[in-house]
Amino acid sequence: MLRRLSTDQPEKFNFTKVNLNWAKAQLKKYPKGRQASAVIPILWRAQEQEGWVSKPAIEFVADFLDMPEVRVLEVATFYFMFHLKPVGSKAHFQVCGTTPCMLRGSEELMNVCKARINEKQHSLSTDGSMSWEEVECLGGCANAPLVQIGSDYFEDLDKSSFEKLIADVEEDKSPVPGSRTGRFSSEPASMTKKYSRKKSSSENASIERFRG
Ligand code: FES
Repeated sequence: MLRRLSTDQPEKFNFTKVNLNWAKAQLKKYPKGRQASAVIPILWRAQEQEGWVSKPAIEFVADFLDMPEVRVLEVATFYFMFHLKPVGSKAHFQVCGTTPCMLRGSEELMNVCKARINEKQHSLSTDGSMSWEEVECLGGCANAPLVQIGSDYFEDLDKSSFEKLIADVEEDKSPVPGSRTGRFSSEPASMTKKYSRKKSSSENASIERFRG
């Protein structure tokens, strides 16, 4: 998929004071002269601040990390985790359309996006609060089909649970990430009821991590 910068760009980009301090602290993690290795987390922070990665943000990051602008541009345009156009103010839905998700109904999810958000991906809803795009495998195929919003995965979706998810976002309800069929992780769907005791931290080390 060809990924280009938006034709509509802001005049400038600057980190907020908090983000600038955070970014400076990140540089200490890398040996002198190797600060370019911080390009992904610094770009990600810029996106978290503005919602997307603009040309001025790319220029700022290149200057901040003392690296050629084109190298930052390469990173921003290669990874689809970086949004190159303004996205919805409440949520940008990244719908996985790769084979396992497609076989489990992702096309239906994309039809919901077309009906509820915008017929065209990478375009804002009428009120500017939502946008969507089809992305390649999100690495959660066992819980297909799934949708990513920011850093969160919403899994085991179908038309109705996805419509509910969109409605919750519209109503500022902060939906809880995870499976929509009751799975804790990627255990076989038939185990959900039978092995409810799996939801004890003594049997699943990752539970404590996700509780906090
Ligand atoms: S195919 Fe959708 S997460 Fe892998």
